Amino acid sequence: MDSVLKRALKGIIPTKKEEKDMQKISRKLLIAVGKFADKHNADTILAGSITRNTWLKEKKEIDIFVAFPDNLPDKDLATIGLQIGKAAIKSMGGRHIISYAQHPYVRGFVGKYQVDIVPCYKLDSADKIKSAVDRTPFHVKFIEKNMRSEQANDVRLLKQFCKSAGVYGADLKTEGLSGYMCDLLIIKYGSFSNTIKNISNWKAGSVITLQNEVAQKFENAPLVLIDPVDSKRNVAAAVSPKNFEFLVSRAKNFCKKPSDKFFTIQKRKPMERPEFLKLKKLRGTSVIAVAFKPPKVVSDILWPQMRRFVERMGQMLRENDFKPMNCAGWSDEKNIAIAIFEMEVNNLPNIKKKVGPSVFAHTNSQNFIEHYAKNPVRKPYVEGVNWVVETGRKHVNAAYYMLDVLKQNQKTLEAVGIPSHIAEYICKGSKIAVDEKIYGLIKNNKEAKTFIRNFFGYVS
Ligand code: CTP
Ligand code: MG
Repeated sequence: MDSVLKRALKGIIPTKKEEKDMQKISRKLLIAVGKFADKHNADTILAGSITRNTWLKEKKEIDIFVAFPDNLPDKDLATIGLQIGKAAIKSMGGRHIISYAQHPYVRGFVGKYQVDIVPCYKLDSADKIKSAVDRTPFHVKFIEKNMRSEQANDVRLLKQFCKSAGVYGADLKTEGLSGYMCDLLIIKYGSFSNTIKNISNWKAGSVITLQNEVAQKFENAPLVLIDPVDSKRNVAAAVSPKNFEFLVSRAKNFCKKPSDKFFTIQKRKPMERPEFLKLKKLRGTSVIAVAFKPPKVVSDILWPQMRRFVERMGQMLRENDFKPMNCAGWSDEKNIAIAIFEMEVNNLPNIKKKVGPSVFAHTNSQNFIEHYAKNPVRKPYVEGVNWVVETGRKHVNAAYYMLDVLKQNQKTLEAVGIPSHIAEYICKGSKIAVDEKIYGLIKNNKEAKTFIRNFFGYVS
């Protein structure tokens, strides 16, 4: 294990020069932001992994928080916060974009560094927190007090372990662990190896506290990690059940047999058409794909909407007696959004059988018989003790059914539960393809072909 960790650290600890440069640039940035923030009686705070020396070598990101007096109205916090961020980045010769969390904030690019300048409130106690970003200054203080400097590399190892598993990041695309969560776990369990040992024993529903806080109920959370600065907050809130179980199984395997692969970023091969055809034949299923231009919204909106779209579409297929067995959505967030449905039942007969009331329920039987008196397929008849009837179906093919649904206008799509931005972009044009023809939708998009491999969970 020791030699594996040593090798892993080599790849993720910044060099002395990188560290010095990082300190220099963050000091400069603090001064630049402070110059504008001072005028508004706001504090400039360095936050995040830079303050605890837990940043990964290739992640050159700096988090600066601007804490305003708490009597400043919400909307002024947003506008002044942006003004300060923009001015500071400009004075450093960088460019910026506006990003969104609970409030908008400035993301700047200065040389090879990414700088987030986030406005928040200056509070004397964590009870007064108004939004998620207000917790961060308390996080900085907590970690400063509770993390020993020699634990920094343990945090780095844990971040890289999560990254390799594809579960690093609490954003809504990744649904994994935040940097702060990694900090807390190392504080709780002392070292990387002890943390992994503990993770390997986690069971869905585990609750972890650092200071024996009384945990409230968090519905459906596979893992609860109480924020030591705010016991109402679950630091692990973003972690999905799937990612939770995957992390636990990686930890188990690592404990059994540590190796370099737990720290490397594996690139999966795209699945090309011949391999897809072979697999499809083996499985005997049919695959339907819907492709459209991805809505121009931030990733934290796009991914949950894609998931809801796929879920709702699957539900609608089921309501119409089709049987989707695996569904997933993906987007490169630029050119294509695609949803795939692997079908257990794709075609249905022209007729369907409906079971009616028992012959002993006289009134209901009478109504049933009258209702279907003119039924063209077959008149009601008795099977066992129930009236039954056979009726025609509107939809006998899943792809045509989907085509029928998705050609409706935006309002109707939203009314049946398709998320708003997806509905809008489907109306601008969507394409449906079945089986190997889905390769016509994704053209030469390698990432989309990798998504297909991930979809089947099939590693060749
Ligand atoms: N934060 C949080 N919850 C999140 C994301 C961020 O509480 N889901 C807060 C934490 O206080 C964190 C700070 O915002 O320390 C900065 O966020 P981020 O840059 O994502 O985390 P780092 O700790 O800096 O980790 P990394 O090395 O990935 O940058
Ligand atoms: Mg950071």
